[in-house]
Amino acid sequence: MEYDVLVVGAGAAGLMTAIVAGGRGRRVLVVDHANRPGKKILMSGGGRCNFTNTGTTPGHFISANPHFCKSALARYTPWDFIAMVDRHRIAWHEKSPGQLFCDDSSKQIVRMLLDECAAAGVRVETSCPLSNVRATTDGFVGETPLGHVRAASLVVATGGLSIPSLGASGFGYALAEQFGHSILPLRAGLVPLTLSGKHQERYDGLAGVALPVEARVPGASFHDAMLFTHRGLSGPAILQVSSYWEAGADLRLDLLPGLDAAQALREGRVERPGVELKTLLSSLLPRRFAERLCEVWLPNRPMRQYRDAELNAIGAQLADWPVVASGTEGYRTAEVTLGGVDTDEVSSTTMMSRRQPNLYFVGEVLDVTGHLGGYNFQWAWASGHAAGLAV
Ligand code: FDA
Repeated sequence: MEYDVLVVGAGAAGLMTAIVAGGRGRRVLVVDHANRPGKKILMSGGGRCNFTNTGTTPGHFISANPHFCKSALARYTPWDFIAMVDRHRIAWHEKSPGQLFCDDSSKQIVRMLLDECAAAGVRVETSCPLSNVRATTDGFVGETPLGHVRAASLVVATGGLSIPSLGASGFGYALAEQFGHSILPLRAGLVPLTLSGKHQERYDGLAGVALPVEARVPGASFHDAMLFTHRGLSGPAILQVSSYWEAGADLRLDLLPGLDAAQALREGRVERPGVELKTLLSSLLPRRFAERLCEVWLPNRPMRQYRDAELNAIGAQLADWPVVASGTEGYRTAEVTLGGVDTDEVSSTTMMSRRQPNLYFVGEVLDVTGHLGGYNFQWAWASGHAAGLAV
């Protein structure tokens, strides 16, 4: 079997590459070892796929080379993808500012991509692993259950390691290494943090309690919701900060973001001098959490008994609350994989390898990882589009 382009991975980036290449008249085969295409798209956004973010900027991505993503993102914008979604009459809505979701189901996005593939003459084969890939004088050859496949260009779109049950594998990294690429250290991102020992016991029984916080580690901070889980902490603020957290990193929470906590406590003392601190804090924080704070960490007395200095100290503590995380939940629940194929060895305009002609890398397999909020799909679409124009 001969193709112009062989794409490994029928996920977001691979299907977009195929659509654009097929639209240019290239003969394209997409193979995926999973039993259906776009499994992560189906799972994404709670089943409604947060398919882009209209506020996308290069600053929303983590990469050893922060400039790498700029060219592709500038040439395929969220509005280009929205135009495709609109052409397919898929209804969508904006949830948080900039985050676009399907009104109905993420199945519509997969259907749209497969319809676009069909219109572009792309062949998509699932349950079709690729093995024994090697370079030839005029491209690549590999083995599949369909037989030997030869293609002038090979596009690696195998995604990251997150959620192996959805088809994730390290195949793309191994293929990259086979052709002389370096893989920057891989770790789980957008992932809940775990607590252990006394650090877990102190928050025991709070699972399900949520509150807005500003979560900070050196170099990054995120103001969003936090959720206590049975194993530790989750919610958007924690998922976001997890991509910047490494073992031992100093993680701090502002438990009352946007509020001068000391001032609020001093005012509370004037207005309600007879109530205890835990009661006053329950008007500012979820009651169960406020009570726990006063059981374990803070002295609990009627407000009139506190001096200014004590309230100022409590306010400062609430604004800079240290959390000792023991780790993350890992690839089992992570939304993304940080690190990946070193972008210094890949062209930022075409996504072609600088090590091996006509070998391309798109999407999450590259060392480009977006924040939470539709940025990862936007990177998949944009990098796939760039490669699709070049293969
Ligand atoms: P993707 O993972 O989509 O596709 C890779 C494909 O390669 C898979 O189909 C896989 O089966 C295939 N493959 C792997 N190894 C192979 C092999 N050896 N042979 C053949 N095929 C192989 N992002 C976002 O922007 N908005 C959101 O709402 C969400 N929500 C979300 C929820 C959950 C639960 C997860 C896990 C992730 C998200 N994400 C997200 C992140 C987003 O899903 C992710 O960044 C993109 O899907 C990456 O696109 P890729 O095409 O690079 O990989």
